[in-house]
Amino acid sequence: MCGIVGYLGAEQAAPILLDGLSKLEYRGYDSAGVCISDGRDLKVAKTKGRLAKLSELLDGGKAITGTVGIGHTRWATHGAPSDENSHPHIADSGKIAVVHNGIIENYQQLKEKLLAKGKRFHSETDSEVAANLIEYFYDQGLDFQSAVRKAVDRMEGSYALGILCRDCPDTIAAVKKDSPLIFGFGDGCNFIASDVPAILKHTRKVCYLEDGDMVIFTAHSARFYDAAGDLAERRPEHITWDTESAEKGGYAHFMIKEIHEQPKAIRDTLSPRMKDGAIVLDDLSLDAAYLKSLSRIYIVACGSAYYVGVQGKYILEKLCKIPVEPVLASEFRYADPVLGKDTLVLIISQSGETADTKGALEEAKAHGARTLAIVNVVGSAIARLADDVIYTWAGPEIAVATTKAYSTQLSVIYLLSLYISQCLGTVERAAYDRIYRELQAIPEKIEALLTEEAISRVQYCASQYFNNRDVFYIGRNLDSATCLEGSLKLKEIAYLHSEAYAAGELKHGPISLIEDGTLVVAIATNPALFDKTMSNVKEVKARGAEVLGLTIERLAYGMQRDTDSVIAIPETDPILQPALSIIPLQCLAYYIALMRGCDVDKPRNLAKSVTVE
Ligand code: F6R
Repeated sequence: MCGIVGYLGAEQAAPILLDGLSKLEYRGYDSAGVCISDGRDLKVAKTKGRLAKLSELLDGGKAITGTVGIGHTRWATHGAPSDENSHPHIADSGKIAVVHNGIIENYQQLKEKLLAKGKRFHSETDSEVAANLIEYFYDQGLDFQSAVRKAVDRMEGSYALGILCRDCPDTIAAVKKDSPLIFGFGDGCNFIASDVPAILKHTRKVCYLEDGDMVIFTAHSARFYDAAGDLAERRPEHITWDTESAEKGGYAHFMIKEIHEQPKAIRDTLSPRMKDGAIVLDDLSLDAAYLKSLSRIYIVACGSAYYVGVQGKYILEKLCKIPVEPVLASEFRYADPVLGKDTLVLIISQSGETADTKGALEEAKAHGARTLAIVNVVGSAIARLADDVIYTWAGPEIAVATTKAYSTQLSVIYLLSLYISQCLGTVERAAYDRIYRELQAIPEKIEALLTEEAISRVQYCASQYFNNRDVFYIGRNLDSATCLEGSLKLKEIAYLHSEAYAAGELKHGPISLIEDGTLVVAIATNPALFDKTMSNVKEVKARGAEVLGLTIERLAYGMQRDTDSVIAIPETDPILQPALSIIPLQCLAYYIALMRGCDVDKPRNLAKSVTVE
């Protein structure tokens, strides 16, 4: 998704903006640009392609002078990636420049009106409409701030906008609705950005702007206005994590760094909530009476977060005896789900900004359902909107393909299931205690999966299979949900065609696709279902498949006979096994992607935070 940075201070703006934009590259983009005010004119440099190209054009920022500026990385929505469609956009008479993240839904109507008033357009974007609309009102005699306010009042859709006015070179205006934007309080300078890493080098004092907010700032002051246009107080939060933690720290890619961070991320997520044999979710307002009244839990999310929801169905139903339905957020919002006071809608999102997930949350609230969000980004839109929030403490996740956020979301599902089962008394004490102890041991067991020896085994398997054309992941029960995530990882970063099937489903259709050399990754970690899955393995072997098995150590020997290679993982309670099984699958996808020469951290066509529908 698009990234925005704005700076106003005493230093040259362009190098600061280029550096800030580089910290937003993880969001995915296809072009980049900056607009700098030198006190008289607005000067724009922008180009299709990587930020490195823009930096080269600008000699690292030296080629364009001025201490006030806005920068942007664009992820195309309206109009193909091109120099013209890149941001910033300058209005027709050159007085206003904007960078925009989001979609202005009524841009076509606005554009027609502006064309009728004589404004000319030079791009296909909705964003250029914002620039021209603000300039139109400014030309009518409104001051800069009032022109911005009037223009955004006319705009429908989502936007985070950074705006410069040629005639007000000491001021930046910014507005936000349904797209993320933060304000950074500097010392003799101030910032706006789409995300914290972009400005963390310069300040740790940030505030997350609310929907409808406008901020007007200079180097030394900032005035905030709420959606009603009234002056509002926005207090800074102190960011405690380090720039270092948002950078690669010696690893070749963010993805492998984040894979290795999983034991810590899970520990950070679990330990403050596990005390003396009980699950303590202090801020949660779900009491036993409410939980007893529940007739259904929906789990709503997108992509990997949705696959956590699929795991959640098995886990919550087993431990809490409440029917659970995982639904894709993009479907949930338009499906007329049956919602009411007796339904809990569990929303899962790393970014807390995913448009479909946020839309589904709003839908659930509008229908009177209680909402509980599992979110990683503190203060994000979803975290603010939901009735209750449980944060995953994964830290910033930069690689586009999620790993540690997925694992910490799954950890919260375990916490929540144990918490609800504790309230409802649905799990016997001995079983509860065993799962509780095993959950505490998960980070240590993941460490064992990330030793050099364990990683080399996965690397060896990757070297055997990276040239395969089609890959099938099969498993039963919780393993089938792990298959979904393992397969998605491979698709996303290694660009390999792969599918995930419940093992028992194979012979109802997809087995016709198995031929000599097709790779089947068979996951069989539950001793009670092992033989059943192994019969499916035999079926695909008989049709020429190469089989890579994944199972617990004590079943590895039994698997070797019928497979070509086996990855063995430590054993835990079967219900917790997905927390371990996913680790070698993430590594497998990573090493296959490397061997195929793919851009692991920034896979093609994908964005980290999908803030459009
Ligand atoms: C896959 C991946 C995506 C996200 C999905 C939801 O590796 O990262 O499938 O899980 O886009 O994003 P969030 O969790 O930010 O709502």
